[in-house]
Amino acid sequence: MAIEIIATGKAVPSKRVTNDDLAAKIDTNDEWIRSHTGIGARHIADEDTACSDLALEASKQALAMAGVTALSLDFIILASASPDYYGCPSSACVVQEKIGAKNAAAMDISAGCTGFVYGLETAAGLLSISKSRKRALVIGSEVISKIIDWNDRSICVLFGDGAGAVLVEKTGSPSEGPGKRGLLRTILGADGAGEKFLLTRRGGTRNPWKAGETVTIPPHLEMDGRAVYNFAVKSVTETINNLLAEESASTGATVTVDDLAWIVPHQANARIVQAAGKRLGIPEEKFFLNIEEYANTSAASIPIALDELNRGGKLHRGDLILTLGFGAGLTYGGNLIVW
Ligand code: UT7
Repeated sequence: MAIEIIATGKAVPSKRVTNDDLAAKIDTNDEWIRSHTGIGARHIADEDTACSDLALEASKQALAMAGVTALSLDFIILASASPDYYGCPSSACVVQEKIGAKNAAAMDISAGCTGFVYGLETAAGLLSISKSRKRALVIGSEVISKIIDWNDRSICVLFGDGAGAVLVEKTGSPSEGPGKRGLLRTILGADGAGEKFLLTRRGGTRNPWKAGETVTIPPHLEMDGRAVYNFAVKSVTETINNLLAEESASTGATVTVDDLAWIVPHQANARIVQAAGKRLGIPEEKFFLNIEEYANTSAASIPIALDELNRGGKLHRGDLILTLGFGAGLTYGGNLIVW
């Protein structure tokens, strides 16, 4: 039995905002944004679009690619830091209704930008322990532009909106030995001591809005960029090393970076990837980067990247790939997958 990704989809709002567009409104410039992050543009949802709307579009694409209906879904797992509603209901339930997946259980995952990595492992676990359940949609979707302070140049230039979805299926392929397929292993981790480094401070039960309070800035993300940067480089480096070491130990054959067709990192900052690559001696071309076009789409960035690789013909059956997530929590993780 293997847990395989059998289809992918993505949705990105049509409104494209370049660095120059932002520079016309706030004190920033294209040169700073590109040199510090690798970002050239981001796509921003319109007023009426919420997390579940982009998630729905990406999910429809994945179902169409696989040629299966929503009725065949057993689980919908949606990772987001910018869900439709505060607390409940989950955006996954909204998608379940809109897509007509009435046989699917549905829930959200809150693990910041690592949410998709967590979601894939959660789906694999749920499918593995069930005799009858076979198919899951794992979605990363963000309309993070609605929780950004657009007057704060230190954060607003970094993020964009989008969604990616993968269809995950329990198949008869082997998950070990010759011809093995699917999700081989996952590393998940967290360091809650870093909660203050990336957070939406207001609106939750720790610090709720109070009756009569004048709202001067809507709930918005705050980040200690330098602290998160250092955490990201360390966790990315360790996750690559540990995933390869664990795979080597379990198979008895040395698995190295050379065996990977792609490393698909969370797209937060091209410099994080470059720093980790330099430490490990990994050539830059091994990392798939589309941050220049989409900026940081949080939990959506890895599934968007997977869909672009897949539809772009850059992934082939049997390719070994490695995903890398890091973000609010702080959380980190990675999946090792045979495509
Ligand atoms: O997805 C979740 C995970 N998030 C991340 O992984 C993000 C990790 N952190 C980072 O990517 C980087 O720390 C940033 C891109 C956020 C910031 O880069 P940095 O090299 O750490 O810059 P900095 O915050 O130290 O700022 C350097 C300078 C400051 O000016 P002074 O004080 O040196 O005069 C800032 O005021 O750059 C200034 N600055 C800007 N200038 C023009 C900050 N933002 C901007 C801006 N445009 N947008």
